[in-house]
Amino acid sequence: KSIDDLGDLSGKRVLIRCDFNVPLDGETITDDGRIRAALPTLRKLREGNARIVIMAHLGRPKGSVNPKFSLAPVAARLSELLGTEVRLAGDVVGDSATATVEALSDGEVALLENVRYEPAEESKDEAERVGLAKKYAAFGDVFVSDGFGVVHRKQASVYDVAKLLPNAAGYLVAKEVDVLNRLVGEPERPFVVVLGGAKVADKLSVIDNLLQVADTLVIGGGMLFTFLKAQGHDIGSSLLDEDNVETCKSYLEQAAAAGKQIILPTDIRVADGADFDNRTVKGAVDVVAADAIPAGKQGLDIGPDSEMLFADAIRGAKTVFWNGPMGVFEIAELAKGTAAVAKALTEVDGLSVVGGGDSAAAVRVLGHADDEFGHISTGGGASLEFLEGKELPGIAVLEGSN
Ligand code: 3PG
Repeated sequence: KSIDDLGDLSGKRVLIRCDFNVPLDGETITDDGRIRAALPTLRKLREGNARIVIMAHLGRPKGSVNPKFSLAPVAARLSELLGTEVRLAGDVVGDSATATVEALSDGEVALLENVRYEPAEESKDEAERVGLAKKYAAFGDVFVSDGFGVVHRKQASVYDVAKLLPNAAGYLVAKEVDVLNRLVGEPERPFVVVLGGAKVADKLSVIDNLLQVADTLVIGGGMLFTFLKAQGHDIGSSLLDEDNVETCKSYLEQAAAAGKQIILPTDIRVADGADFDNRTVKGAVDVVAADAIPAGKQGLDIGPDSEMLFADAIRGAKTVFWNGPMGVFEIAELAKGTAAVAKALTEVDGLSVVGGGDSAAAVRVLGHADDEFGHISTGGGASLEFLEGKELPGIAVLEGSN
């Protein structure tokens, strides 16, 4: 069900869950993509003269009030983007929230403070969550789910509250589900999946599932070294997930048996290490063959030949999904692989999808505009779980989702 099926919302209180979990440098939002992604739904509700009450989280304050995680920067940015004041409540469900919601006129917007200030929000105890969800529900006549990045969480403001009010998916959730369904449904072929990021363990189920539907898997990022190890190569002091070497080996075998390709880099940029806090490389950056990483050297990005190899595979595809940086892209010298992949995605003659979190931030930091890609998902974990074929509680709970 979409918000267009909710009927006339004029004068009604629309309680909406958004994902405004944006990266911050102090109080400065460094990528406002998730806020901008919520605008179509919010604008439509405003045009319809609804009274809008937004629930959102920021970071992981773990159930206690902490000004470091206040939604104040989000309220300010959203006010600018909507061109109207967004009133930030001083609490989540207390007196300030109640007064802020009561004071709303038609077409006005309120934002509750970080829902994760409330210990019950993320509780494993359903009764506790429902207790909080009832307080949220008292602020709305209908509920709209538009925080795609958080629909994989069974939390009070995402899941339990949906059971208490007439509900619908917002435009963002509807669009995300539509695009991701095209990937796992009948993608135009060749379908190439590019995976990066540090931890192979985080990507195992997604590799498992995508090996069934994709034609080619391209592997970069810290996780590639566990694959190189599985092929029997020395990886120096590069990141290794010892426990998953055998699993990676079985993926390589499965792919070969099914006539699919797993593309790994042929060369690697190595150094003595990386200082993440100061964003600097330790020692000089050298390019070495992927099957001959010297002892003591750490692989930190894919090399120039691999950039071309990966870009060719991407450009030749009709459908591409990319999640996870190819190297330590926060450090300029080690952002080349990620930049090459991002650029190749902009050149795809077909559907190119960037999957959430770091990759979405990376393409913007690298200077790309959102409309150079088919779709930039706002979901990190959520888009991966969708592609793993898991049921997402925040979507399954919505009316008409089955
Ligand atoms: C995200 O950043 O992926 C979402 O906002 C969910 O955040 P979480 O991983 O802290 O639940």
